[in-house]
Order: sequence, then structure tokens, then C-alpha cells
Amino acid sequence: MNDIAELLDREAAPASSNTRKVFVKTYGCQMNVYDSQRMADALGADGYVETATPDDADMILLNTCHIREKAAEKVYSELGRLRKLRDQRRASGSEMLIGVAGCVAQAEGEEIIRRAPVVDFVIGPQTYHRLPQVVSKARSGDKVVETEYAIEDKFEKLPARDEKQVRARGVTAFLTVQEGCDKFCTFCVVPYTRGAEVSRPVSQIVAEARKLAASGVREVTLLGQNVNAWHGEGPNGREWGLGALLRELATIEGLDRLRYTTSHPRDMDDALIEAHRDLDSLMPYLHLPVQAGSDRILKAMNRKHTGDEYRRLVDRIRAARPDIALSGDFIVGFPGETDEDFEDTMRLIRDVGYAQAFSFKYSPRPGTPGADMGAQVPEPVKSERLQALQALLEEQQSAFMRGLIGQTMQVLLEKPGREPGQLVGRSPWLQPVVCDENVGKIGDIVTVRITRVSANSLIADNREVEP
Ligand code: 5AD
Ligand code: SF4
Repeated sequence: MNDIAELLDREAAPASSNTRKVFVKTYGCQMNVYDSQRMADALGADGYVETATPDDADMILLNTCHIREKAAEKVYSELGRLRKLRDQRRASGSEMLIGVAGCVAQAEGEEIIRRAPVVDFVIGPQTYHRLPQVVSKARSGDKVVETEYAIEDKFEKLPARDEKQVRARGVTAFLTVQEGCDKFCTFCVVPYTRGAEVSRPVSQIVAEARKLAASGVREVTLLGQNVNAWHGEGPNGREWGLGALLRELATIEGLDRLRYTTSHPRDMDDALIEAHRDLDSLMPYLHLPVQAGSDRILKAMNRKHTGDEYRRLVDRIRAARPDIALSGDFIVGFPGETDEDFEDTMRLIRDVGYAQAFSFKYSPRPGTPGADMGAQVPEPVKSERLQALQALLEEQQSAFMRGLIGQTMQVLLEKPGREPGQLVGRSPWLQPVVCDENVGKIGDIVTVRITRVSANSLIADNREVEP
């Protein structure tokens, strides 16, 4: 998943002076964004309201990411800064709680309190529903570490989504349907931080999606570390996969746009590909990481597919939905990667053509098999390869965007733009679209014509056009 959390504008609920305030800082993937909202909701039931700054917060909660190097280090330096803030607070006679949640909490546990005694509680991703009890213990002065995998279903125990909160967060929403991973790619820490693959039941997901739609949400992105491995029992007693679930969600009044992320190539089954062919509300965008293009490296990564199998899969998806935009994740410098292997990755990128992509230098994660492999690639080689790969991907991305100039498309208007008189929405292919405010209001899906592109956005004509 992608580091988008920092880019999201999070709206804070208004607070009166006698309510307790919590500031939640989110690192990492969309799943963490979703978790932060659910944690804020759970704390809301406990009398806390969210605030947009640490300065007036009674509690600070860091929702952390462990996916790549230095993630934990970032958390420790943030905790250093927070210690100063807390000391100032104490000097003026008030208290502040500090909690660490997320994947660093899960991976480091008690070590966090040992290294940063300023922390009052540590809570792993599987136990968020216990947050109110953890906070109340911490408030009475105990240090709390809660990282046991919960046996009870955390989603069952979390309070239902609050309509007012959902409305305040806008017309698009995330909905976690699956968590954890059983794939064990040799570079990845997720199976250790998020645990085994678990799918939420159909009834829970449908109920949450209905609630979101009733609260004004028009676009839902289903989340899972391995979202297309989601499975459950349909109302007819039959086993459902993600394709069937999407068909069901597509019938919900008001939910006009569906997306899902992140998918593993091995789990793209026919039913899901057919859903892309049949469902108008399933947006033509697919994040389908391949990581590398060399069969030797793919094998060492334990991806369980070859480069050509991935190419054939992309062909089948494009046959079902010709206008689909593909996005991917890439890792350069996995142990043992030669110049030739890297060239195979570049060749695969040229063959497939991506509308968007995220790319990283391999970063050894303690406890994963990749970290113990010989032939680690030197840093300068990784940097050089990353630069070449990103140049190619950027070229593809900008070609994709330029190809949209002159096209008429439906845009879901999401928020005010940077300049007065503007609204910003999203294209079906996920690019931000800057529109004139007279085309409609937030929450509308309007038809506009693209006239030009700027760095990462499409710019639309200043009027709505006939669909
Ligand atoms: N080093 C570099 N990149 C990684 N990713 C996951 N683990 C690592 C690692 N150890 C990347 C993968 C994944 C994305 C979320 O992060 O590309 O798809
Ligand atoms: Fe980071 Fe955890 Fe999300 Fe992976 S699952 S990107 S480790 S927050």
C-alpha cells in the first residue's frame, strides 16, 4: 500500500473547551488511514474528539508503519519531539497521554516503552477495539502494552461508524474487508505485523457500506493487504470471492463508485476480471504490484508467478476492460539482482505500460528471509536503478495523463481546490481533476472535458458538458 496518509487532509471535529482532544498522526498505507478513523471513532464513544494539531491535544496517538527501513526510527524521533511538548505541558500543570499504535507497535512491543519512556501505551493493529480500556488504564498511571492477537473479532467489537464523523470526512471512504497476509514474500514484514489472512464476513461489510452510503459517501475503496484473496459465505450459502462481493456492493443505492486495493496477481480470478467487464461502478483502475520482472528474482521473492504469467494476466484484464489503468509497486536491488535482472524489470514495465506506480529500494526487514540472503546489492547501485526505473515510470504516467486531454469524463467532486472558485474531484482513473466551482457541488458526479494537465492533476473546462 502507498504512503498517502500524509497527503490526506484530515478534518477535525469541532471541540468545546471541556472535551478531551486526541490528535492522531497516521503513517503508511490506506489501511492505517482507515484504522486511525476507527480508533478515533472508538475514542469518540469514550468522550474524545479529534483535533488537527498536537498543540491542544490531551492525547497523541501515532499510528505507525513498519514496511521499510527507518520507519521505526522516524517514530522514535517523533517521540523525542513529543517528549518536549509533554514536558512543557507538565510545567504548565496539565497532562498529555502518548500512545503508539500500528505495525511498529506490533513489531516492537515493550521495546518502545523501554526506549521511549514518554510513551504511555502501545497497541497493535489487532486490538484496537480494546483502546478505550487501554486508555483508561494508561490514564490511571499504568504503562500498557497490548499486542496479543485478539481472538474476538475486532470489527465486531468496534463501535459502528458514526454518521456525523463519516459526513465530516467527505464523499469517499475506505472500508477494510480483509487483513493480514499468507503469501510470505521474502522481502515483506506484513505477515509478521498484520498476521494471517482474515476476511470480514459479507454481512458486516455490506452493513458498513450501506451506512457509508446513507452518510453521503459515493465512492468506497475496499482495503486489504491482499484484498483479492477476500472470501466469504454469500447469503445463498455459496462461497463468494471479491468479484461476487463487488456485485453485491454495486447494488447499494448511492454507492456510485467502487475501488479496491491492494491485489496480488495470483488471486486475480475470472470472477473478479468479469466484474471489471460488467460493473459500471467498478472504476477502471487496478493496483497490481509485480515488484520485479526477472523470473529468478520473482522466485527469490516467493511471488509465485513469472513475468510472462503477469503479462498474460494483464492481457486478460485489458480484454475485459480495455480502458483500465494499471498501477504497480516495484522493488529495485533485491538481494542477488544483477544488471540483467534489472533490465528484465524495465522490459516488463515497457511491455505493460503503467498509469501510476510506486517504487522503492529494497530495504532488509529484520525477521524476513530476504534480510538474511547473501549478495545484498550496494546502495549506489540501488540508487542508480531506482532513478532509471522512476524516469521510465514517470514518462509512462505523463503519457497516460496527456492521453486524457480532450476527453470527456465523469468526475466525483471531492473538495475545494487550492484557488478560490475551484473544486477538485477524481477521474475514474484516479487522477485529481481541477474543475471550476460552477460545474457542481461536492458529492456530485459531473461530466467535464479535460483541457490540459499540470504536474499531477488534470485540468477541466470551466463548464459541465453533456454526458
Ligand atoms: N523493501 C522495499 N520495498 C518494500 N515493500 C514491501 N516491503 C519492502 C521492503 N522490504 C514495497 C512493496 C510493496 C509496497 C507496499 O512496499 O513494493 O508492494
Ligand atoms: Fe505499513 Fe503495516 Fe500498512 Fe504495511 S500494513 S504499509 S507495514 S502500516
